[in-house]
Amino acid sequence: MVDAERAASSRTLGQTWRALRDRFEAAGIPTAALDARLLVRHVLGLDQTGLIAREAEPWPAERGPALDALAARRLTGEPVARILGVQEFYGLSFGVNAATLVPRPETEMLVDFGLGCLRDRPAPRILDLGTGTGCIVLALLANLPRASGIGIDLSAEALDQARANAENLGVADRFEALAGDWFAPLTGGGFDLIVSNPPYIATGVIETLAPGVRDFDPMAALDGGPDGLAPYRIIASEAMDYLTPGGALALEIGHDQGHMVEALLKAAGFTDIGVASDLAGHDRMVTGFARK
Ligand SMILES: C[S@@+](CC[C@H](N)C(=O)[O-])C[C@H]1O[C@@H](n2cnc3c(N)ncnc32)[C@H](O)[C@@H]1O
Repeated sequence: MVDAERAASSRTLGQTWRALRDRFEAAGIPTAALDARLLVRHVLGLDQTGLIAREAEPWPAERGPALDALAARRLTGEPVARILGVQEFYGLSFGVNAATLVPRPETEMLVDFGLGCLRDRPAPRILDLGTGTGCIVLALLANLPRASGIGIDLSAEALDQARANAENLGVADRFEALAGDWFAPLTGGGFDLIVSNPPYIATGVIETLAPGVRDFDPMAALDGGPDGLAPYRIIASEAMDYLTPGGALALEIGHDQGHMVEALLKAAGFTDIGVASDLAGHDRMVTGFARK
């Protein structure tokens, strides 16, 4: 055994994750420390407390190849959530697969808005258009025990993931996943809330996105047509037919789409239209209500 190998094999868990953090930092990964900890924890089956408690223990050499394989994927730009197949959203764990977007923290705004609208309703019904992992509607169902919801997506593979997530969260009996184009699979309306985080990137801009998004998120989750607004035109013009009187519509938007989506909702007859910003101060959500 050469010295370098001996040194590596006598590393502690703490030294191992820090060495990985340093490699990630050197590669310019902005979340180097977090990513290194998550990959080491995954390989060892530890939670964060476990990793801290066992920092001084020797690294099990037989787990080295598994960690190297995950680290190599991260170094190609693949996001940790894709490598691990799981992402936290609204304090809940969501499985992700190749056909789903990785849920983003800014999307939690739609859940907050929905909870505000529905908390006092006896048995609210929710529709999530472009549901992906199901993160929006399932986070709402997890927090509203009397609510039920439908998630629609073009991708059957995404819907398989949404159904699995509903099972894991214990809300599968109140959730239905339907395949199809926006409202097409529905046989009726009567929804108290329609939410959607549709694809909203203009086709020509996709090439310029960060590699972790451009190369790993599914194109169907990103491409909003030539000006990024194609899904909003459809959703805004049809949503009213599927809402109860006074029902709400909440749409996630790109930072520069607020005025245009607001205009689409106005043209469709929505009232009390609002544009809300995310924590970074960017326009991120447009909301409106059907007349009572
Ligand atoms: C930006 S992702 C959002 C996924 C999830 N709701 C979230 O917030 O993480 C958009 C989703 O819309 C779906 N989608 C794209 N075009 C669609 C269409 N015409 N009808 C239904 N779903 C569509 C995609 O497959 C993708 O899952």
